[in-house]
Amino acid sequence: MVFDKNFATKRIGFIGAGKMAKAMIQGFLKSGVVANQIIASTRTVESKVRVEKEFGIAATTCNNEVASLSDVIFICVKPTNVQNACDDIVAGLTYQELQTKIVISAAAGVPRVLVSDWLQNLPTTFTMMPNLPVSVNEGAIALYGSKIKQHFLTEVTQLLSKLGKVYQVESEVELAYMVGIAGSAPAYYYAMVEAIEQAAKHYALTNVNVSEVVRQTTRGTLTLLAEQAFDASYLKDMVASSGGTTREALNVIEEQHIGDSLHDAMEAAVLKTMKQLSYHLSQSNKPKVATEPC
Ligand SMILES: NC(=O)c1ccc[n+]([C@@H]2O[C@H](COP(=O)([O-])OP(=O)(O)OC[C@H]3O[C@@H](n4cnc5c(N)ncnc54)[C@H](OP(=O)(O)O)[C@@H]3O)[C@@H](O)[C@H]2O)c1
Repeated sequence: MVFDKNFATKRIGFIGAGKMAKAMIQGFLKSGVVANQIIASTRTVESKVRVEKEFGIAATTCNNEVASLSDVIFICVKPTNVQNACDDIVAGLTYQELQTKIVISAAAGVPRVLVSDWLQNLPTTFTMMPNLPVSVNEGAIALYGSKIKQHFLTEVTQLLSKLGKVYQVESEVELAYMVGIAGSAPAYYYAMVEAIEQAAKHYALTNVNVSEVVRQTTRGTLTLLAEQAFDASYLKDMVASSGGTTREALNVIEEQHIGDSLHDAMEAAVLKTMKQLSYHLSQSNKPKVATEPC
């Protein structure tokens, strides 16, 4: 795929093309963004070839190339690689060129203030917390920017709205909360569905695929929650009549404190993010290693 350098609308670049970047690329393509508007970089040639084949977009192993060819650059590498990604962006651009870019880091626990610092205090630096449903345009995406001019904020919000709902948060700490509430949260639901699927396997049905029944029940249950103005507690009571079978099941859930487990899971994700924030801030005074353009 030839990356269209003269595309009329914004060109989107990804540094890192793992699980999150791929989910976002899928979402953008589904939303109508065309493939030659997107470029992604990977660490290895194998991943580059895979990404090109899978999405029909341009890919490279050179982060400088993504930086110079894109208007909006998403940093989608592991938190420990964000500084390198920023160094690569800076190395491939003049100071003036850098000022024309919008950079959005998706890395959990890497503070915006540091990312901006690594990008020579680029004023259009954002941090975000997406979640996996961005791939089906149903993401819950937290966005954090500080002292960002309104038109940049509007532009970035509009772009991310292609992937789901965008929630502007007011601080790094709120962004960390969003890791627990949204970023990590799809995994809690999948863990529950996985457990329900396992349990359902004890009840083999002659002509019916039990996993399919679990999935359809999950789909219907979440669609009902999404489409009706009732809260989860009300809907729970709609299923559980007093003295009935569901009440019996809910008694077990309550006795075994599954709500407490979910609370603790969310807290663990938030705490880990907070620890990462403090770690990165404590490392911020370490000397920098110079990066050469590739
Ligand atoms: N997964 C989620 O649901 C989720 C949710 C919210 C936020 N995030 C954030 O998104 C970021 C990425 O997570 P992930 O789950 O997508 O991780 P991942 O699947 O491990 O992907 C990491 C990607 O980074 C690439 N990479 C590593 N070093 C690089 C470098 N120096 N230059 C360019 N690319 C490099 C890897 O390339 P190779 O494939 O060639 O090794 C790989 O494509 C993390 O910071 C995470 O906190 C993830």
